[in-house]
Amino acid sequence: MSNYIIRLEEKKDHREVENLVRESFWNVYRPGCSEHYVIHVLRDDPAFIPELDFVMEQDGRLIGQNMFMKTVIEADDGREIPVLTMGPIGITPELKRKGYGKELLDYCLEKATEMGFGAVLFEGNIGFYSHCGFDYASRFGIRYHDLPEDADSSFFLCRELTPGYLDDVTGVYQTPQGYYVKDEDVEEFDKQFPPKEKQKLPGQLFD
Ligand SMILES: CC(C)(COP(=O)(O)OP(=O)(O)OC[C@H]1O[C@@H](n2cnc3c(N)ncnc32)[C@H](O)[C@@H]1OP(=O)(O)O)[C@@H](O)C(=O)NCCC(=O)NCCS
Repeated sequence: MSNYIIRLEEKKDHREVENLVRESFWNVYRPGCSEHYVIHVLRDDPAFIPELDFVMEQDGRLIGQNMFMKTVIEADDGREIPVLTMGPIGITPELKRKGYGKELLDYCLEKATEMGFGAVLFEGNIGFYSHCGFDYASRFGIRYHDLPEDADSSFFLCRELTPGYLDDVTGVYQTPQGYYVKDEDVEEFDKQFPPKEKQKLPGQLFD
């Protein structure tokens, strides 16, 4: 890892970032991917936080990105607890597993902490996120919306930014609506990018 900077995303970066995210997620969780369209939509969402919309740049090209959204935990005692959710986060394919993702995420979390946010929750693989201080959200007493009580929730992760922020909270986390996109809209948007082969691969989570 060398010679990189982390900075806020600018308007001129949008298409390059969308292409980076497309390259990064392509065929990882499903044949093709939807995340490049998701970020395209999220930037215009009222819950989007422009001050936490970061890119990683090396030798004049973008090699990573991450973004955050505001959401809430609907607490069992009736309160709405403001929290952050995160992602997509992506590193360019040829630089995966070299430490850039952790550097980028640690930086973003530091900035989110400085802004006074209390906790971050999202869906992800503990194998990577445990390196950045995340644990299973169930350990904090937070449940994932629409998930049966006995279902595996190990995909649902949490990190407090303010220690003790969730100490007296149990409740249900809500994914911001902006993350839900229609397959046909993804297909249409994807036509604006160079053709790429969709493949069914072992380990993908969705058809
Ligand atoms: C996930 C991603 C952002 C991680 O960034 P990265 O630069 O590849 O990861 P790092 O090299 O910083 O990894 C830090 C640690 O997490 C581990 N790790 C990284 N990705 C992992 C994964 N998918 N599963 C398990 N462990 C992982 C690494 O082994 C490393 O541990 P080590 O230092 O003990 O070897 C990147 O691989 C990526 O863009 N993947 C495709 C898109 C994606 O899945 N995004 C996340 C969606 S939730």
